[in-house]
Amino acid sequence: MSTKVAVVTGSNKGIGFAIVRGLCKQFHGDVYLTSRDVGRGQAAMESLASEGLKPLFHQLDINDLNSITTAAAFFKEKYGGVDILINNAGIAFKVADTAPFGTQAEVTLKTNFFATRDMLTHFMPLIKAGGRVVNVSSFVGSRTLNQCSPELQQRFRSEDITEDELVGLMQRFVEKAKSGEHNQDGWPDTAYGVSKTGLTV
Ligand SMILES: NC(=O)c1ccc[n+]([C@@H]2O[C@H](COP(=O)([O-])OP(=O)(O)OC[C@H]3O[C@@H](n4cnc5c(N)ncnc54)[C@H](OP(=O)(O)O)[C@@H]3O)[C@@H](O)[C@H]2O)c1
Repeated sequence: MSTKVAVVTGSNKGIGFAIVRGLCKQFHGDVYLTSRDVGRGQAAMESLASEGLKPLFHQLDINDLNSITTAAAFFKEKYGGVDILINNAGIAFKVADTAPFGTQAEVTLKTNFFATRDMLTHFMPLIKAGGRVVNVSSFVGSRTLNQCSPELQQRFRSEDITEDELVGLMQRFVEKAKSGEHNQDGWPDTAYGVSKTGLTV
């Protein structure tokens, strides 16, 4: 039987790093720590090596389509696919950040929603039979859903929402945030929250 493989995005620190540590201890197969920055990735690798753990490394910046397709091709070639994918990479502006809300919306949605979707687009076809994909969302996503207008909530909660419609709604949030009209359009003041509502949906 071929070697099983698990891939964790954004795993040079934080929750992703802890997931890699846990998989190294419990998963029977190769575990890939991935990082957008090779230096930060190597430092994380050394830290786990000092604990006696042996993950493997691959560069992966989910905001870079070329990086996604290069990684996908690597796992297809070396393992014939992927057994476990953990879409953990994510960003959040600090509460005190003074960047305009429209900028925060664009930047946050780009990584947490659109780039994670790019990962799914390119990796779902590689997931092996019996494999697993985990998208690390947040309780903030469901809290934010409850703060959306009834019209938006109805669409997000509907059984028949399509991926295209969801993408359109996420784009609409970014546009309205940039023009300062997101509240009138039914959205609350949280870019992180909307990004996680979208990811969960
Ligand atoms: N912490 C919480 O309380 C909490 C609660 C609920 C959900 N979450 C979710 O859990 C996940 C991890 O959170 P965390 O607290 O561990 O955050 P963190 O410590 O800030 O780590 C985030 C990781 O994602 C990476 N990353 C960011 N943008 C990336 C990109 N474009 N491509 C690849 N990697 C990228 C970061 O890399 P760099 O080091 O290069 O920046 C870092 O490795 C996120 O999705 C977050 O929304 C966190």
